[in-house]
Amino acid sequence: MRVPIIAGNWKMNHTVETGTALARAVSDNAPRSGVEVVVAPSLVSLASVVDVLVAGPVHVAAQNMHWADNGAYTGDVSAEMLLDVGCRYVILGHSERRQIFLESDELINRKIISALAAGLKPIVCIGESLEEREAAHTRLKVIFQLRAALTGVLREDMANVVIAYEPIWAIGTGKTASPEQAQEVHALIREQLGELYSAEVAQATRLLYGGSVKPSNIDELIAQPDIDGALVGGASLTADSFLALTRAAVA
Ligand code: 13P
Repeated sequence: MRVPIIAGNWKMNHTVETGTALARAVSDNAPRSGVEVVVAPSLVSLASVVDVLVAGPVHVAAQNMHWADNGAYTGDVSAEMLLDVGCRYVILGHSERRQIFLESDELINRKIISALAAGLKPIVCIGESLEEREAAHTRLKVIFQLRAALTGVLREDMANVVIAYEPIWAIGTGKTASPEQAQEVHALIREQLGELYSAEVAQATRLLYGGSVKPSNIDELIAQPDIDGALVGGASLTADSFLALTRAAVA
């Protein structure tokens, strides 16, 4: 059985003060079992949020990292630095990184390999744009991004990989993919994992949906057989809505 994950991607929101208050409220009230709860604060809040969460059930993710172990990369951080500060996960390949910061499939693949080598669990984001969906290229795009992301990732490392399907047209737009649309792509991703690795890996890997997930639509999404949780933006920024999502994932 796959334990669902509800992960909150705070993006570029919250100060240390408001972020630690939110983390404390989540930690105090999140379900103790039946769901894995993860929050991804900004880089400058990571250490303070880890401090707040250290004795509780909630894990911390970073929102990005560099692929190199160290070196002259002004403004960046390595997997080891994130582990050192107490992160367990790292979000990689988010569409905002791909679109705004022009991160390529190759670069994202390098980051995934580097995270796994260091012992950090990547949450790998893939998903099509509106133009690609309208041109019926969703399957092609998702398969391409998935295979590019996982190039060189060994079967034994797949236990530490989480995949997030985030259709770009559903991110921050209030337009959620219908449960059927999301399930169709999740089933495709699982089928691909079966081809790339094995039926066991396909069955064990957790696949999250992301894109305007809210307390009002989580139930029908999480009820789909291949949706194992959510990567949440806007609705993760307040304790009430995020906690409602964590509870829905248990039920
Ligand atoms: P929203 O939930 O705000 O649409 O953001 C989704 C997302 O990008 C999570 O990574």
